[in-house]
Amino acid sequence: MRYTPRSQGKKLIVPSFFFIIAICVLAFINELRFDSLLSFGRCALSNVPTNNDSLVTPLLSSSSSSSDDEIRILIGILTLPDQYPRRHFLRMIYGTQAIPDGVKIDVKFVFCNLTKEDQKVLVALEIMRYDDIIILNCNENMNKGKTYTYFSSLPDLFNETDSPNPPYHYIMKADDDTYIRLESLVTSLRPLPREDLYYGYVIPCQSMDPFVHYMSGMGYLVSWDIAVWLKDSDIPKKHLEGPEDKVFGDWMKEGRRGKNRFNAKWSIYNFPEPPTKCTHELWPNTIAVHLLKNQEKWIRTLTYFNVTSNLKPSKLYHIP
Ligand SMILES: *[C@@H]1O[C@H](CO)[C@@H](O)[C@H](O)[C@H]1NC(C)=O
Ligand SMILES: *[C@@H]1O[C@H](CO)[C@@H](O)[C@H](O)[C@H]1NC(C)=O
Ligand SMILES: *[C@@H]1O[C@H](CO)[C@@H](O)[C@H](O)[C@H]1NC(C)=O
Ligand SMILES: *[C@@H]1O[C@H](CO)[C@@H](O)[C@H](O)[C@H]1NC(C)=O
Repeated sequence: MRYTPRSQGKKLIVPSFFFIIAICVLAFINELRFDSLLSFGRCALSNVPTNNDSLVTPLLSSSSSSSDDEIRILIGILTLPDQYPRRHFLRMIYGTQAIPDGVKIDVKFVFCNLTKEDQKVLVALEIMRYDDIIILNCNENMNKGKTYTYFSSLPDLFNETDSPNPPYHYIMKADDDTYIRLESLVTSLRPLPREDLYYGYVIPCQSMDPFVHYMSGMGYLVSWDIAVWLKDSDIPKKHLEGPEDKVFGDWMKEGRRGKNRFNAKWSIYNFPEPPTKCTHELWPNTIAVHLLKNQEKWIRTLTYFNVTSNLKPSKLYHIP
């Protein structure tokens, strides 16, 4: 920089300028670290290029300066503590998907109290490395209220004063044999209400009417207010046992919730084989595929969606 003589007043300009930049940089770092938006949008540097993925601490979050497009989604994959290889696989599946700017998607694995000594070490290590596990206060069960514990615990688990309100606009329950295409999910959610929403694959399989029954457990989603309602209402507490997805639909019906419903069929469907009334061919307009019960089905699905096709070239490897 060239220094030329200047008046006392002008001398202040340069330091003040750097002071403002320093404040903005601080705000920017805070934003990255806490994922909270502060007042960054109004900051003088709000047009710095958005952070590159590698800078963002949580693997799956891509936060940019605040905007009305912002959307926050929690995907809870209900699984069991001992399913280590499955979790590692799903971390790759979700960790390699691009997420649009302004969208925050947290994928978390959800299970009940640990029961074995080795789990205390292995699960703790996973948390230290990935921090994507929620351990609920329950005993592991399929159809005795784990889903209720999951949804109804969220308001307290994410009740932090410095986090945005609501912490997530949408919260999802998914199975660990479901493949969700995050970008398609976000696109389908953008036009939808953020209150009293019940979204998923309508049961029975032939039906396209979301007001008749319930959404399949392969992957359904509700707005945050539904979790708050579940936590406070007596309706689910009286009726916890039974197939979790059906029981969920019963609560919604009895509580007259889910005035906004969205049937995501046939963007969400069961893997085409073996064919049933609930299956669909793999097709581009896909949000989620369910019943990926073995490696072959996963490979066919990932191949169909060209998941590895933009692998960056390198001298270090060659994949035919
Ligand atoms: C950040 O991302 C942009 C666009 O994706 C790219 O052009 C740039 O090289 C990246 N910068 C770093 C430091 O990786
Ligand atoms: C789960 O573990 C916590 C802490 O160890 C304990 O306080 C709680 O009673 C357990 N819950 C059940 C349902 O066993
Ligand atoms: C969140 O915490 C505050 C203070 O601890 C409490 O007043 C409020 O009721 C809590 N909200 C929920 C939804 O639990
Ligand atoms: C995968 O890539 C092929 C070849 O580029 C293309 O024809 C096909 O449409 C892509 N499939 C999807 C689901 O995007």
